[in-house]
Amino acid sequence: MKHDIYSAEGLYKIVEKVELSPTVSKHVIYAPLIAAKAKAGHFVILRAHEGGERIPVTLVDWNPETGTVTVIIQAIGKSTTQMNAFKQGDSFSDVAGPLGTPVEIKKYGTVAGVGGGVGIAELYPIAKAFKEAGNKVISILGARTKELLILEREMESISEKVLVTTDDGSAGRKGLVTDAMKELYAAGEKIDAIFTIGPIPMMKFVALTSLPHKTPTFASLNPVMLDGTGMCGGCRVEVGGKARFACVDGPMFDAHQTNFDQLMKRTAAYREHEKLSLDRYARDHECRIGLH
Ligand SMILES: Cc1cc2nc3c(=O)[nH]c(=O)nc-3n(C[C@H](O)[C@H](O)[C@H](O)COP(=O)(O)OP(=O)(O)OC[C@H]3O[C@@H](n4cnc5c(N)ncnc54)[C@H](O)[C@@H]3O)c2cc1C
Ligand code: FES
Repeated sequence: MKHDIYSAEGLYKIVEKVELSPTVSKHVIYAPLIAAKAKAGHFVILRAHEGGERIPVTLVDWNPETGTVTVIIQAIGKSTTQMNAFKQGDSFSDVAGPLGTPVEIKKYGTVAGVGGGVGIAELYPIAKAFKEAGNKVISILGARTKELLILEREMESISEKVLVTTDDGSAGRKGLVTDAMKELYAAGEKIDAIFTIGPIPMMKFVALTSLPHKTPTFASLNPVMLDGTGMCGGCRVEVGGKARFACVDGPMFDAHQTNFDQLMKRTAAYREHEKLSLDRYARDHECRIGLH
């Protein structure tokens, strides 16, 4: 059924919720104006309730026909824990977007997607778009352990080859995504571009691994974002020695030019406050999600 994109009825309602792992949930949300404009690489900013924190999350999928967008959220702090406690039929107070600059999708030849943890969800729409543009896609998926490995089947459906690594060897091979990259290079695989999304240290080492091979490599940066529109400067990152705003200039940037050490320092700045806020929320709600 075609939806009236100008209707406010049911706006931001969760029409489907699926728990993908103990800490990661998929939410399909009614947001027709966003669904009509979304492209691979876009993100949205969600608020659980009025006055709530503004949380950036990547658009994993969208359907202009049903007016829905899909996001995958990992509960790591107070707001994401609160969001993943939502049930089907609950509503976010607002969803702003689509935000950011979409990834330029073109024919490279062979594109390797390297995703870590919830970054695999963020990688999926980009890898899918490259596949649809006629590229051969090789996916390297990394997780700490088997139960945190998500979207393996979806990635398989768009990839020529999927290599899985886990820190503890409970799925795929024991090791890091960079071990799988080194194997591909050693086997003489010709890789024309790499797109990586995941924890900052992982993306830094993906860039260091591809640098000697001169493979163009792009990383989706995840600094703390506030307004998401280039106004506050909160998401400043250093790329090629210049200050860039991840929310409008990115979030995808040339990984070989990115100052990952500075990004790590900046994202850690509020860690103490974030921990206090989560502890207080967990105490008030006797919530066990995300505290394992
Ligand atoms: C462009 C972009 C896309 C993202 N896509 C996804 C996604 O698809 N799925 C997903 O689970 N997560 C995604 N994230 C990360 C997600 O925004 C953070 O996990 C979330 O904001 C944490 O909020 P919290 O209150 O639960 O945790 P907190 O306890 O407040 O923070 C925990 C950590 O999350 C990060 N963080 C906190 N606040 C923000 C903020 N306003 N903006 C960015 N990072 C923040 C910091 O590294 C912080 O140390 C994305 C981030 C960015 C910038
Ligand atoms: S989030 Fe404010 S400038 Fe990017």
